[in-house]
Amino acid sequence: MSDETSTGLREEVRARYAEAARAVLEPRPGVTAQCVEISATGSCCGGSAGDSCCGAGSAAAEAVGGFSENLYREGETDGLPEEAVLASLGCGNPLAVADLHVGERVLDLGSGGGIDVLLSARRVGPSGFAYGVDMTDEMLTLARANAARAGAGNVEFLKGQIEALPLPDASVDVVISNCVINLSVDKPAVLAEMFRVLVPGGRIGITDVVAEDHMSPADRAAAGSYAGCIAGALSRAEYLDGLDAAGFAGASVTFTTEAAPGLHSAIIRAVKPATA
Ligand SMILES: C[S@@+](CC[C@H](N)C(=O)[O-])C[C@H]1O[C@@H](n2cnc3c(N)ncnc32)[C@H](O)[C@@H]1O
Repeated sequence: MSDETSTGLREEVRARYAEAARAVLEPRPGVTAQCVEISATGSCCGGSAGDSCCGAGSAAAEAVGGFSENLYREGETDGLPEEAVLASLGCGNPLAVADLHVGERVLDLGSGGGIDVLLSARRVGPSGFAYGVDMTDEMLTLARANAARAGAGNVEFLKGQIEALPLPDASVDVVISNCVINLSVDKPAVLAEMFRVLVPGGRIGITDVVAEDHMSPADRAAAGSYAGCIAGALSRAEYLDGLDAAGFAGASVTFTTEAAPGLHSAIIRAVKPATA
């Protein structure tokens, strides 16, 4: 991918998620964060079209709608600020994947409105800590407001790109992420950065959109947009090869829900070996 293409895609992603954050920060009738996420332009959600715009039309809309349903277990989000739940744009439940323990330090890549950081902070307790990293100012504003509303003292939201994480080497026990790595324009850099910030023996518990191996890049692009979490999806083999190249061990990619032909919500697990 040329520098120009990757810069353009990154800005498209940033604009899409800035608008999704604004839909929660500055509520308007009929406009939700999910609606903005799945609309090709966002503009048709600005009027009264609401769900009729968001629920129908493109394969991407159908796909992301399918990825986004019933992510959290009953009662799991009780007590969180409504704005954090409204801004949920994931495709799985990375906490269920990561099996967090009291006292652990957790990092969420592409933390959005902060839902998974706040849930992680609860799980690891006051002796643990949860960081979120996001590149979109509006999402950071929303996430920090949600943390204040939740009274969460063991969280921090950092501005940055997941391809160049603003954290030191070996500083977290677990990396989680919910439907973000597919949006990166440099996935090998993201996998290398996850490896760098994890302590030896640390682990990843990720949910993402993943393509079946027979889906060519052209097939994926035909199925939906890049900013809508479809065109940039890795295939299962590409994920496993990438994790191996970054140094991870015991990697697995498990499909959970097929939300569009050949495209799945998936759970990705791997560990950083305890010794080199
Ligand atoms: C699909 S939303 C998911 C948000 C959150 N994980 C959730 O489950 O609600 C993607 C988020 O990742 C952020 N993002 C996308 N690409 C990024 C990158 N390269 N670096 C940092 N953040 C990124 C966007 O700003 C957005 O907040």
